[in-house]
Amino acid sequence: MQQSKISSRDIEVPETTTSVYDAIFRRRMSKEFTDERVSDEALNRLFDAAIWAPNHRLTEPTRFFVLREGSQIRARVAEMGAEVAAKKVVNPNPEQRRRSAEASRRRVLDAPALVYVYSVPGDSEEVTRENYATACCAVQNMALAAVAEGLCLDWSTGGVTQHPDLAATLGAESDWMMVGAMFLGAPKTAPTSRRSPQSQVVSWLA
Ligand SMILES: Cc1cc2nc3c(=O)[nH]c(=O)nc-3n(C[C@H](O)[C@H](O)[C@H](O)COP(=O)(O)O)c2cc1C
Repeated sequence: MQQSKISSRDIEVPETTTSVYDAIFRRRMSKEFTDERVSDEALNRLFDAAIWAPNHRLTEPTRFFVLREGSQIRARVAEMGAEVAAKKVVNPNPEQRRRSAEASRRRVLDAPALVYVYSVPGDSEEVTRENYATACCAVQNMALAAVAEGLCLDWSTGGVTQHPDLAATLGAESDWMMVGAMFLGAPKTAPTSRRSPQSQVVSWLA
């Protein structure tokens, strides 16, 4: 049954001392997390932020799959990740293959929270592209909200996201577009990153 929509007038904005600019500029992707749990409440605040991403035609195209810690589905996806990683190793050394598979397995098993995101295609190439753009905005909303929660979101389009059976395993439709795996947790390290100055990419036309 179709649930009634939430009006933007009724949004309850979570309290935070993190400014938008703090979140934008302090957000970093880190693969190392502490053992601290990510609460369902925090995750729900991230999903609330995600669904308010801008969305042409209000197609609401983004789908999220949360893989609970210690669940059978996490174990299954971890094995699929290990399979992809082992196949990717070009070095014929079996030990190297085993290590790579184990690292990939542990990444899925140990993430404090793990969410797979898909974008539903539209009925034309244009709408499909718009939908994917919305899904990426939704992930960025999550990544910024994560900063306010003291968390870090690590976005991956590698590893198990490339496994041909992942969509069916999660219950996604075969034509949905993979947006990425989102690993979430309290960051253990504070990585640095780099960008070119905006003067290199911005053209002011008069
Ligand atoms: C669409 C997308 C896909 C990404 N996929 C991967 C990935 O597969 N593996 C990875 O190590 N990082 C991945 N990243 C993270 C980027 O490498 C990261 O954003 C970049 O290193 C810059 O770091 P920063 O975001 O902390 O500034 C991805 C980021 C985006 C936006």
